[in-house]
Amino acid sequence: MAERTVVLGVTGSIAAYKAVDLASRLTQSNVVVHTVMTKNATHLVGPATFRAITGRPVSTEMFELTNPFAIEHVSLADAADLVIVAPATANVLAKMANGIADDLLTCTLLATRAPVLVAPAMHTAMWEHPATRENVERLRARGITFVGPAVGRLASGGTGIGRFAPVEEILDEAFRLLGRHGDLAGRRIVVTAGGTHEPVDPIRFLGNRSSGKMGYAIAEAARDRGADVTLVSGPTALRTPGGMRFLPVATAAEMLDAVRGAVVNADALVMAAAVADYTPDAPAVSKLKKTDPSLVLHLKRTADVLGSIGDVPVKVGFAAETENLIENARDKLRQKGLDLVVANLVGKDSAPFGSDANEVALIDKRGVEELPRAAKREIAERILDRVASLLVKA
Ligand SMILES: Cc1cc2nc3c(=O)[nH]c(=O)nc-3n(C[C@H](O)[C@H](O)[C@H](O)COP(=O)(O)O)c2cc1C
Repeated sequence: MAERTVVLGVTGSIAAYKAVDLASRLTQSNVVVHTVMTKNATHLVGPATFRAITGRPVSTEMFELTNPFAIEHVSLADAADLVIVAPATANVLAKMANGIADDLLTCTLLATRAPVLVAPAMHTAMWEHPATRENVERLRARGITFVGPAVGRLASGGTGIGRFAPVEEILDEAFRLLGRHGDLAGRRIVVTAGGTHEPVDPIRFLGNRSSGKMGYAIAEAARDRGADVTLVSGPTALRTPGGMRFLPVATAAEMLDAVRGAVVNADALVMAAAVADYTPDAPAVSKLKKTDPSLVLHLKRTADVLGSIGDVPVKVGFAAETENLIENARDKLRQKGLDLVVANLVGKDSAPFGSDANEVALIDKRGVEELPRAAKREIAERILDRVASLLVKA
């Protein structure tokens, strides 16, 4: 996200303090954040907080002489790769819908050609008022992206719709919009992630140690490079990422069905999921009781995902092995007609499962590239570098 600029508009909602976290998370992702606060927002949070968090001046006045943007307020609008209004009051939505430009934020919103992302926050009655409904519809029709509001407890008392959306959800959309011109723009990429749960009885299942973190990192990185992503995920403890299609599945058979549907017209398939090779032949319809001293489960082979899908221009597989890693990964590359295999060596401590970092080798027809141990997101970027160049060739 380096060298991307976000103009963050903060308005006079009680949720303004939550925009500090948003500013912080954007800044930590190397985004340049210019905060523009409405006068009313400054009654709720001090500009000094945003200045300290973003390391940049904060604009609050259109005619402030010390502000370099005061002479040419349009330059902020031009500098923006994305304008985020978070939180957005009912008032600012009304101004936006009507093209009113009576302060620096609304001037910037009128002057910018960058995409605009809005996270409204207000009392339920304000959100449900016909005036706000009409304004929101007009803004949506103009291509403005909305995140939230969520349903939940409101500062004004009670619960209902109007709560500021979780910062993660705003970031998902922000990164998707910021990445729209990336090297995977326009590419349709299907990513599988997580393990599968094969039912033994209504209570128990056979599973594996996959956390889903690697696949989720690939899906998020692909989204942030402009791809149109479908994530097919087995059960995980991870947050469902936004800015992509999400298909939750439980069993290997469901995974196969979902992938089969998702890959129609896809440009690339990255299979990071750990799909069960065997499944109980006949899962018990009621809970198995511990009456017998031992129990034998009869298992049958699951269908091979790659063997039963149509042609996808670029296919990437994963191999987790406890021994002969490179040899086994090479076999997989050949036998399954893959373009690339990401090979994980699984040690005694069951690494890399659940960890945020990993150490892998990338194996293709030309050879083996061992990547140094790195964060899964970093590894995801290296895998996608390969996918991007394979797509160019394909
Ligand atoms: C403590 C406080 C909290 C407020 N919270 C909200 C809010 O969450 N959403 C909203 O639309 N208006 C809220 N308002 C009303 C706005 O501040 C008011 O409409 C103001 O004119 C908005 O100005 P701005 O959009 O230029 O920031 C609040 C007002 C006060 C005093």
